[in-house]
Amino acid sequence: MPVHIIVGSQWGDEGKGKIVDHLSEHVDIVARYQGGANAGHTVVIGKQEYILHLIPSGIFSENVTCVIGNGVVVDPAALLEEIEMLRSFGMDIKGRLLISHNAHLIMPYHKLLDTLREEQGAKIGTTGRGIGPAYIDKFTRTGIRIVDLLDRDILRTKIKANLDEKNKMLKQIYGKEELKLESIIEQYQEFDKQIDELITDTSYYLNTALAEGKTVLAEGAQGALLDIDHGTYPYVTSSNPTSGGACTGLGIPPTFITKITGIVKAYTTRVGNGPFPTELTGDDGEQLRRWGNEFGATTGRPRRCGWFDAMLLQYSARINGIREMALTKLDVLSHFDEISICTGYRLNGKMLKTFPSDEKRLNNLIPVYETVPGWKQSLTEIKQYCDLPAQAKQYVARLEELTGIPVRIVSVGARRDQTIFKDV
Ligand code: GDP
Ligand code: IMO
Ligand code: MG
Repeated sequence: MPVHIIVGSQWGDEGKGKIVDHLSEHVDIVARYQGGANAGHTVVIGKQEYILHLIPSGIFSENVTCVIGNGVVVDPAALLEEIEMLRSFGMDIKGRLLISHNAHLIMPYHKLLDTLREEQGAKIGTTGRGIGPAYIDKFTRTGIRIVDLLDRDILRTKIKANLDEKNKMLKQIYGKEELKLESIIEQYQEFDKQIDELITDTSYYLNTALAEGKTVLAEGAQGALLDIDHGTYPYVTSSNPTSGGACTGLGIPPTFITKITGIVKAYTTRVGNGPFPTELTGDDGEQLRRWGNEFGATTGRPRRCGWFDAMLLQYSARINGIREMALTKLDVLSHFDEISICTGYRLNGKMLKTFPSDEKRLNNLIPVYETVPGWKQSLTEIKQYCDLPAQAKQYVARLEELTGIPVRIVSVGARRDQTIFKDV
């Protein structure tokens, strides 16, 4: 099992952190391949909750080496804060975290421009972490990479060129004060001192490790419906969370990929704006938010909640190549007498065959639901699949039937020991 990809199958926050942490025990390397500190991956060990934004969720497994791949956009401030947070819990990342020299850096102007764009028009509902502006610079080929930190002259020249442009935007478009070159250079040189020993050619490292027979878990951030190519554009993030992104974002060939697991929440949530066919705006949505504690791990914003959407999952499974699901937060549904599942979309009196790609159809379609009985019993201490109530097993079986994908893991709580492996 050389490379096993873990992807978010919906709009993010499916519980990737929890599952990656759990599966990490059995691999050598855990590698993040895209996104940045917009991600918030929660790992609960015992009574302690940890929220990771950049460092892979494998960091809690002692024998695992964690890699931040070239596809990630790295915010030095967020990274140092995270390293410090782990240190405060007695964990040392020394020798256990590697960062790609090709990864792009998030600069102060990226965060500023992200926030200003949102305030003055864009209204995507971004996390404000500078993700879009950083990927813009990457693709216009003006971005600053980690490798640029290693040469002071190059770093200065590149920051200056960027600042000349960004300061014009800040002043002329947004009426803001200009940023100061020297203070940014100083800040990033200081950052270089602190992470210098973590920087390496991670693609070489990963390919060498794989050739030696080591195993890699590739941890996606966000989710398929937030993918820049396949998501509900323009209400998406600026990277490719889908499984294909793992190869480009880590510099490994597709021939190493042997397994793709979709992390699937037992219902649906979304943070930020954009279409959401099964969204519940009334009492049921409120209940899901309350029982599922659906508040963003990065921004604290309330997550929008709705029933499970099989149309969305079929689409996600297709573009990701998902062969098995890890179904999370099944315990949250224990509070409902009846549970609805969206089995299809109707538009202008006709059933749609596939997940639509335009905002208008997504906003106007009518989800078709079937309702199944709830189990009204706590699942949180159940350890074996056979011990789940019959209605819960029927719910899982129905999701398998509608999506055509077997469920391999059922998660019934945030802790490591609240994870049930099911034979497929
Ligand atoms: P990620 O971004 O995909 O890693 O997910 P988040 O960490 O943003 O959000 C998932 C939330 O659900 C976190 O607070 C987890 O601790 C929690 N969680 C994960 N799995 C379960 C589960 O099976 N049941 C419950 N009740 N909570 C879970
Ligand atoms: P994890 O990895 C849920 C959403 C934002 C916004 C859109 C664009 O924890 O699942 P961005 O800041 O990326 O430009 O925002 O994407 N978003 C997420 N939603 N989980 C995430 O990450 C997200 N990362 C970004 O809310 O709608
Ligand atoms: Mg999250």
